[in-house]
Amino acid sequence: MNQDKLIIFDTTLRDGEQSPGASMTKEEKVRIAKALEKLRVDVIEAGFAMASVGDFEAVRAVAQVVKDSTVCSLARALDADIDRAAEALKGAVSPRIHTFISTSPLHMAHKLQMPPEKVLEQAIRAVKRARQYTDNVEFSPEDAARSEIDFLCRVVEAAIDAGATTINLPDTVGYKIPHLFGQLIRTVRERVPNSDKAIFSVHCHNDLGLAVANSLSAVINGARQVECTINGLGERAGNAALEEVVMAVRTRHDIFPCHTNIDTTQILNCSRLVSNITGFPVQPNKAIVGANAFAHESGIHQDGVLKNRETYEIMRAEDVGWTTNRMVLGKHSGRNAFKTHLKQLNIEFKTEEELNAAFTRFKELADKKHEIYDEDLQALMTDAFSSENERIKLVTMRVVSEMGEMPQAQITLNIAGEEVTSEAKGSGPVDATFKAIEQLANSQVKLLVYSVSNVTNGTDAQGEVSVRLEKEGRIVNGQGADTDILIASAKAYINALNRILAPTDRQHPQVSASII
Ligand code: KIV
Ligand code: ZN
Repeated sequence: MNQDKLIIFDTTLRDGEQSPGASMTKEEKVRIAKALEKLRVDVIEAGFAMASVGDFEAVRAVAQVVKDSTVCSLARALDADIDRAAEALKGAVSPRIHTFISTSPLHMAHKLQMPPEKVLEQAIRAVKRARQYTDNVEFSPEDAARSEIDFLCRVVEAAIDAGATTINLPDTVGYKIPHLFGQLIRTVRERVPNSDKAIFSVHCHNDLGLAVANSLSAVINGARQVECTINGLGERAGNAALEEVVMAVRTRHDIFPCHTNIDTTQILNCSRLVSNITGFPVQPNKAIVGANAFAHESGIHQDGVLKNRETYEIMRAEDVGWTTNRMVLGKHSGRNAFKTHLKQLNIEFKTEEELNAAFTRFKELADKKHEIYDEDLQALMTDAFSSENERIKLVTMRVVSEMGEMPQAQITLNIAGEEVTSEAKGSGPVDATFKAIEQLANSQVKLLVYSVSNVTNGTDAQGEVSVRLEKEGRIVNGQGADTDILIASAKAYINALNRILAPTDRQHPQVSASII
């Protein structure tokens, strides 16, 4: 076993997607998976195949296109889940099945309602079944961080005996403190007699803001796989942020006795793509990928950095993908330059028609905005892909806003092939726009969040709008981008409506798994 290598296991498409509102379409997952492959992550957890037909198809699509990273599906410790994961992974160059069952007293008693002996038996059965399909099997004792150490060690030993090649110890509820979590990893590795037969992995949640610190403490104590997500996306407060783990290990190679295979120059691109697709903005002061991460406001800092950048910078902005000369395309750029540049951003077209349609959109944007940056292209393409197969489409809109008068919006939508028009007044132009759409869609949704951000700088920048809607407990996000923020708002609202009105049969993986 190579102790110098830290395996980066990305779960943006699985745990990241469990974040309320972050659900992604198959096409979006494939786009992200391709970007992750280019980032050179070792393992991509593409989803939970048993969750729904859509999830199964998404895992399958990722398994078909990704060649250089291992593709993994999550499966509860149930025969049917494991068979479904294996089916979705058929044809993958390097498939992995990740099976799990809870081992903490709390989860066993209340969630699973199973005695420990039965949990142990089910874990062994699951690993053995997964091994019938692939020799790359990961086992997670869910809520390991709150499990009793003796029982945890018994389950881990049995899972390795049954054929697990990776043992992942999750801090499912983000409860651990770094030195204690590190100790836990060390203790399990030391106490389990066959621990040298498996790679130890960790999966930390960020409920106390300690996911990255806990993961790094585990690495110091022998973990050689970290499960993480782009931008720290994930259930509740999220998972450990991939970019932070990778850059910590790289920057402090004096402390960490291992290295990753990540192409760090792809980090920013992945961060933007995930933010764009999910509608989860990246806070400006976020480490590595936030807009301010390498900006120096104070004069003293600027002076220092100009004399010698190491005075205030411990990493180089270029190493994670920030560039200074960022204008990439303009009004006069041709189709070839457009196509080549999008390819660098992992955006490819299946047909000539798709390319032509995208090029027309690009030209329309370039007419309004002379300098087109990577961020513009990402936003433009996310917008184009997300509106492609939508049931409700924006046809035209007209908004009148005059001082002293109530703003009024007139909207024409195409709903399932039929054009319909409506007018509404509102307290502001956005309110009027949403009311007019709602009169036509009659969706009964609740608007939870509306936010606008600029894709690039300047008054000619595209506005990127995120809308979060709720209906009967289900939460979705929608995005829209345009140089006109009212059009961007309408697009975002319609995008979210299309998602929330689509039927779903999806199950959450971390529900009870007591029946074989
Ligand atoms: O948080 C968790 O425990 C998980 C497991 C399924 C690995 O996501
Ligand atoms: Zn998790």
